[in-house]
Amino acid sequence: MKKLLALVIALVMVLAATSAFADGLLKIGYVQVGHESDWRMANTQNYYDVFTEDAGFELELIDCDNDHALQLAKVREFVQKDFDYIVIDPIQTAGWDDVLKEVQDAGIPCIIADRSVDASPDLYTTAVGTDMTAEGVTAGKWLEEYLAGKAAKILVIEGSTGSSAAIGRAEGFNQVAAEHPEWEILASQDGDFTQNGGQAVMEDFIKRFPEFDVVVCHNDNEAYGAMDAMDAAGIKYGVGEKIIISFDATKEGLTRTLNGQILCNVECNPIQAVIVMNVINKLQAGEEVEKFTLVPDEGFCAPGIESSIVTVMTDEVLAARKY
Ligand code: AHR
Repeated sequence: MKKLLALVIALVMVLAATSAFADGLLKIGYVQVGHESDWRMANTQNYYDVFTEDAGFELELIDCDNDHALQLAKVREFVQKDFDYIVIDPIQTAGWDDVLKEVQDAGIPCIIADRSVDASPDLYTTAVGTDMTAEGVTAGKWLEEYLAGKAAKILVIEGSTGSSAAIGRAEGFNQVAAEHPEWEILASQDGDFTQNGGQAVMEDFIKRFPEFDVVVCHNDNEAYGAMDAMDAAGIKYGVGEKIIISFDATKEGLTRTLNGQILCNVECNPIQAVIVMNVINKLQAGEEVEKFTLVPDEGFCAPGIESSIVTVMTDEVLAARKY
């Protein structure tokens, strides 16, 4: 009987130690936008690489497949399950006030990552991300220098409507375009940040606008789709041909910049998880954190083009690209 009791006590102690270890991990809930682009896949992988058990975290990452209602529901689920931190990569800027208030009322620190929300900054703890408007300005300024006063008819394949990435890039590019009466934006249409979306929009543009000079694609995947559509229509792009501008500067995107297909590619760095982790570690240590941490990025252009705005692509730049 005594032996049995000792065995039970030992078993209880082992179980207690195991659950104490499990409880020692910080539970992080991440509502990811979806899996629409190479950028997004690199961003998701980066979170899995960084928020490991060895680093002290238990990560639950939800792919919300571009569904805003699902994203709200998953945040509420994290609140109910009493997660330690909630990280939101908002599909759209609008519609966040109520749920952010609920997270705040539950006393859970909330980090807005990558994209931004329209809500008051008082409703979340901190934000980490790139400056999408500055990315749009860089693209516009590169085009300004490249065209050097020449007139241009411009088509825009936008990112997902209502996302801060699409809104910011459009705003930034339009700021520069507003200074150029010789530029004409013929049309601007949503390609949903996907290759298929980019291809469908470009096929439609080709039918409607036989004369154009520039295609601005809000991400690399849309640019690949636009190229597929132009290839099928026998339309050439590159130096001296149609000009393709893209965003993200993924490894594949920069490969196509180095080979002269995409003339300008403005980076948006998906490697953000370490920055988010540092913010969480600071909060854990009771330290103050900035309200916004900028993820820096830069622009690139094809070889053979002189630029004071972006970096000219080289083999070395491509070799160093991790995503
Ligand atoms: O929010 C970042 C943007 O979303 C990236 O540019 C795009 O590729 C992604 O889908």
